[in-house]
Amino acid sequence: MDKKELIRRAIKAKKKAYVPYSGFHVGAAILTEDDKIYDGCNIEIASYSPTICAERTAIFKAVSEGHEKIKAIAIVGDADHTYPCGVCRQVIREFGKDTRIIIANSEEDYREYDLEELLPHSFGPEDLQSASKEEKDV
Ligand code: THU
Repeated sequence: MDKKELIRRAIKAKKKAYVPYSGFHVGAAILTEDDKIYDGCNIEIASYSPTICAERTAIFKAVSEGHEKIKAIAIVGDADHTYPCGVCRQVIREFGKDTRIIIANSEEDYREYDLEELLPHSFGPEDLQSASKEEKDV
């Protein structure tokens, strides 16, 4: 996996952040199962709640193009190492239990985690499947 390329794409996407309210820029880039990269930025809306994080912009772009597995995601924001919010951690979980999460300040300065470290004991699609199977067994 070319981590530096993924970080470069996240840095590039961050420049497109539409953040008239917070002024806080975030970019994300995801690597799909077949090594395609999709990137995205955060987009803020005047009525606030429709605002979407960079991670979800990138993930939804990929999923809407038919990719349902995320191998890795790189995130770059205005904070010193910008970590994904709780909602985005759950969305990453949906499309990859083993996703590598790269929190970067630059191509040289980054930290890496497994999703399990950032979202331990998570709930995911398999849990719903096992519940409906048990129901059938009764
Ligand atoms: N934001 C992201 O894009 N990703 C995160 O993981 C944290 C927060 C955005 C949402 C909002 O536009 C701005 O950062 C401030 O919260």
